[in-house]
Amino acid sequence: MKTGKNLILCGFMGCGKSTVGALLAEKLGRRFVDTDSYIEEKEGRFISDIFREDGESSFRAMEKEACRRLAMEKGLIISVGGGTLADEQNATLLSKTGIIVFLEAPLSLLAERLSSDKARPLLQREDRLEAMKALYLARLPLYRGAAAFCVDASPSPEEVCREIEEKLADFSF
Ligand code: S3P
Repeated sequence: MKTGKNLILCGFMGCGKSTVGALLAEKLGRRFVDTDSYIEEKEGRFISDIFREDGESSFRAMEKEACRRLAMEKGLIISVGGGTLADEQNATLLSKTGIIVFLEAPLSLLAERLSSDKARPLLQREDRLEAMKALYLARLPLYRGAAAFCVDASPSPEEVCREIEEKLADFSF
């Protein structure tokens, strides 16, 4: 049954939100939107260029506008950037209009997955691991607080997808 709700996948960079979201959308016959891709398409620029040319706060304003627009739609599967829910208004709006799922993975696994990342602006620094750790610890309670449920993001995308589908059975979506 299609309800008025969206399904929102949140979690730290590298947790697999976009891969799992696309897979889940295909399985469930829903439309998939990734907020970073949405912003890049609208802007005609990569996220890294937006950060470099306009700064992080401009990117956060674009992210907020993307949340506002997508929250008006129904039945979408949305993956949001790792920092989206750090904004309280985004978290409130998305939880009112959708079911938020937190893809949780240990920092060590995320660090491994992101070790050669060259695209994410927040990771392009000498002290990458320390910066990741500080962000991770600050954001964990926000992800947990906003989510209707958590899934283990360590296994393959197919398995994560299956776990979400199982847990979704308790919700009308
Ligand atoms: C960010 C995560 C990125 C992207 C931007 C900022 C963050 O998305 O939105 O680089 O603040 O954690 P992913 O989580 O999809 O990598």
